[in-house]
Amino acid sequence: MPSVLFVCLGNICRSPLGEAILRRQAAEAGVDLVIDSAGTGDWHVGSPPDSRAVKVGRLRGCDMNLKARQVRSRDFEEFDLIVAMDHANLSTLYRWPGSQPDKVRLARSFDPTADDTEVPDPYYGELEDFQEVAEMLEAACAGILQHFASQKSAETASK
Ligand code: 4NP
Repeated sequence: MPSVLFVCLGNICRSPLGEAILRRQAAEAGVDLVIDSAGTGDWHVGSPPDSRAVKVGRLRGCDMNLKARQVRSRDFEEFDLIVAMDHANLSTLYRWPGSQPDKVRLARSFDPTADDTEVPDPYYGELEDFQEVAEMLEAACAGILQHFASQKSAETASK
């Protein structure tokens, strides 16, 4: 089964929203994917998502019952695609022990309509900033589903 790991700094704001939104979209589309999220930092390991992320995620019909963890080297083996929220996450992932840079992409690179390359960190922002992050991630996740669908049809065609 194809697998995707969302990565941000703390794993309490952006990447759990990415995980939860893609899980809801995949269920709606009847697509089987393994989906997880992690942080490059370890400050929030074991914590639930930020209450503002929980709020905006639930308003979008997502299950936000998640727990933060840090990125680990074996993630590069276990996941087909690793989705970073911003350039800082991307460069940290490139330098991670055991990194497989070919698997790492920016979330907004999956959104052809994106006006910027990054999903900005909303941690020091307002609820409105979390709503904007969720909107960016809805579009990025739709692109990720599309990515796996085109991969699948390419595989079928080559058989
Ligand atoms: P996230 O947001 O990377 O989207 O989970 C942050 C959460 C916590 C911190 C920074 C960003 N922090 O500095 O603790």
